[in-house]
Amino acid sequence: MTTIAYVNGTYEKIENAKVSIMDRGLLFADGVYEVAGVYNGVIIDNESHILRLQRSLNEIKLILPIKLDELFLVQKKLIEINKLKEGTLYFHVTRGIGQSREFEFPEDQSPSLIMFVHHKQIMDLPLYRLKAKVMTLPDLRWKRRDIKSIALLPQVLAKQVAHENNCNEVWMYEDGFITEGGSSNAFIIKNNKLISRKNNEKILSGTTRQAVLKLLELEGLSFDERPFTIEEAYNADEAFYTSASVFVMPVISIDNKVINNGMPGKLTLKLRNLYENFAKSSIKKEK
Ligand code: PDD
Repeated sequence: MTTIAYVNGTYEKIENAKVSIMDRGLLFADGVYEVAGVYNGVIIDNESHILRLQRSLNEIKLILPIKLDELFLVQKKLIEINKLKEGTLYFHVTRGIGQSREFEFPEDQSPSLIMFVHHKQIMDLPLYRLKAKVMTLPDLRWKRRDIKSIALLPQVLAKQVAHENNCNEVWMYEDGFITEGGSSNAFIIKNNKLISRKNNEKILSGTTRQAVLKLLELEGLSFDERPFTIEEAYNADEAFYTSASVFVMPVISIDNKVINNGMPGKLTLKLRNLYENFAKSSIKKEK
């Protein structure tokens, strides 16, 4: 089935959907993006994605080219015309076209909004697909990782190295501490306590992370918001990473050091289950 993409007010077959070679997203990675999970045709935790998008836009002095109500309609329409039941929705906003390749913002900015979907199973995965291998690599990114920038070259290169080493995700480190995953937030569990570093400019404030921490609180489970070292990660009882497209993903090895005998951890699976229920219930509310 052909996928239909949204490009600045028009709906096009993905192979025909195009932006200008002068788009500042292409020339400078001058833009921000979101990836949201979709289940039963409804966006999971859309409110958190929109809030983060607005924050990212604000931080780079960009405005959404359409009203929020219109954005919701576009999201809905795109999901409908693509008959997307389960998968992800990608949307990004760039500073649009500049007359020439000037670094400074164009005088009359006309931001560009594109959106497309990806069909993929994200819910109720079988156990054998919940065994992620992780590799650690230095974090080579800029100092404003709280902005969900489309400049992803450090993550592209790091995730490629991880892939070539038979790993599913990279955990990046800086000054001996894990910052986060290439496209996820990193967590470890030690002595029944969850450890995850605080939100600040060093990491992206994950929507899934935020939901998981809330669920943890509701369950009365304890967590410590602090950075953890690579060594601590190797010696963790359990480890996992979170994102809108993988939810809560159990980690079974880090740099080939086996975690929890190579099995998804008990508490990790409980959190995954809680998150799946949260996702399903947020969908019921939307419908
Ligand atoms: N990435 N940290 C980074 C660097 C990320 O790129 C992501 C998400 C996250 C998790 O955020 P959330 O829980 O809101 O998905 C953390 C998306 C999925 C991507 O780039 O494909």
